[in-house]
Amino acid sequence: MSISMEWAMSLLLNNPQSINKIKAEIDANVPEDRLLDEQDLPKLKYLPNVITETLRLYPPVPFLIPHQASENCTVGGYDISKGTMLLVNLWAMHRDPRLWEKPTEFIPERHELKKEEEYMLPFGAGRRKCPGGGIANRVLELTLGTLIQAFEWERVSEEMVDMTEGTGFSIPKVKALEAICKPRDNTIKHSLVLS
Ligand code: HEM
Repeated sequence: MSISMEWAMSLLLNNPQSINKIKAEIDANVPEDRLLDEQDLPKLKYLPNVITETLRLYPPVPFLIPHQASENCTVGGYDISKGTMLLVNLWAMHRDPRLWEKPTEFIPERHELKKEEEYMLPFGAGRRKCPGGGIANRVLELTLGTLIQAFEWERVSEEMVDMTEGTGFSIPKVKALEAICKPRDNTIKHSLVLS
């Protein structure tokens, strides 16, 4: 989940208008004298779309977990013999131009209508689907939301955050994220972080 946090914050720093949208949504729905809490999450519509868009572009398990066909079967028109190992290239599916408009762009708004959600499989699908998907989404929303509610965030320079992807089981960032943050005025006024 830390990898997803790093990608989400990197995407946001390269798209500061999205940080402002999250801030405005939280300020409109959470009293300013306390931090974002689980009870607030159902009221937030934009923040979950930012998480979904992050998991689309940088799925933390880009090939899912290897599966083995337990019977002879057909997948996408291909005959698969019993015992064959199947790897799902989720990274490619999430960026397939036949499924997504402007597939490489960060557009959280695309998830508003939920019309492409069947193509979103960051947690896999079927019986072996990740049982931690619900808690993962909540923790990501709470952590990212709280960081944006309490701090102002900026890139360290005019240069965009380097988004080069590394290789491995997960998708690590080649260059670790560095950012500048300072407490927001309401944080100082209400000692939100220190209380
Ligand atoms: C962003 C966070 C996470 C992502 C992207 C993720 C993704 C995945 C994926 C793709 C699988 C394999 C699904 C398949 O076989 O097709 C998986 C399996 C699994 N995940 Fe997660 N996961 C996340 C967080 C968590 C958390 C927080 C927990 C536990 C609280 C968890 C528990 C599991 C378990 C137990 C399995 C194995 C399920 C099985 O094989 O039956 N995951 N996860």
